[in-house]
Amino acid sequence: MSLLSSKNCNQVLVVGCGLMGAGITQVIAQAGIKVVASDRAEKDIERGKKQILKGISKKEEEEQQQILSRITFTTNMEDGKDSDLVIEAVPEKLEIKKEVFAKLDQFMNPDAILASNTSTLSIAAISSVTKRPEKVIGLHFFSPVPVMKLLEIVEGISTGEETLEFSKQFAEQIGKETIVAKDYPGFTVNRVLVPMLNEAAYLVMEGNDPRDIDRGMMLGTNHPIGPCKLTDMVGADVLFYALESLYADFSDSKYRPCPLLRRMVEAGHLGKKSGQGYYKYE
Ligand SMILES: NC(=O)c1ccc[n+]([C@@H]2O[C@H](COP(=O)([O-])OP(=O)(O)OC[C@H]3O[C@@H](n4cnc5c(N)ncnc54)[C@H](O)[C@@H]3O)[C@@H](O)[C@H]2O)c1
Repeated sequence: MSLLSSKNCNQVLVVGCGLMGAGITQVIAQAGIKVVASDRAEKDIERGKKQILKGISKKEEEEQQQILSRITFTTNMEDGKDSDLVIEAVPEKLEIKKEVFAKLDQFMNPDAILASNTSTLSIAAISSVTKRPEKVIGLHFFSPVPVMKLLEIVEGISTGEETLEFSKQFAEQIGKETIVAKDYPGFTVNRVLVPMLNEAAYLVMEGNDPRDIDRGMMLGTNHPIGPCKLTDMVGADVLFYALESLYADFSDSKYRPCPLLRRMVEAGHLGKKSGQGYYKYE
């Protein structure tokens, strides 16, 4: 056990109730913790609420009501000002995140922890707009949040040890397994995964059949899903931008996006969400 006694998390403010924010809200409420789920407009809140209702629809009616009773939906994030922790899940644009963190820093209690669910941006850059960089950390959830066990905790160069301990304890409270990653692009999981998916794109560009690549990786390395199918699930656009971000930060050609991926994005062949990627979807 750690010598640092971190406090229990009693309430969380989630900023952005999109795909990830709604999933994060659901998981926290299911764990018995109060959540204030905020977004910009009513329509965004409604979409998030719908996702949560679908996510808990298989549970007993009473449990569903209990989960929902712990969630406060709002278009005013200041309604969550008394929270112990904020998890930001707004779009992956540094300017938007900086704007959100600067606001949070003004109205949240000085000892509240501010976390970002960013997949590629630097925690150091996000924390730089606050007066509490030691209380800023990355909490990188994986999609779909209620299903995926991992929570990748990203330690920025200014992140304090108490913030790290609090985050580990919070992960335990919501039933997630953790790894700690340093604040460099891709952190741990995407640093390994993204170049692998890029390499699969090169194989397809060279004329290989995506089905062979997927079967090869599943049967030969025990991956539960092949890289082409996974790219279709993640979105060719999401993969493309992740590669660009790794390439920009490391200036290393091994992260250069495969030209086929660029073509797929240009053609709108984004994967499952557009009905066509490496595979066709009904
Ligand atoms: N999609 C994934 O698989 C995945 C996985 C891990 C991490 N992430 C990261 O999570 C974050 C969110 O991704 P997502 O897929 O949920 O995006 P999304 O587009 O589904 O959701 C973003 C939400 O933020 C809201 N928003 C925009 N500006 C806002 C503001 N200023 N204040 C409050 N809300 C605002 C939008 O209305 C939207 O509901 C990104 O940083 C992304 O990189 C995504």
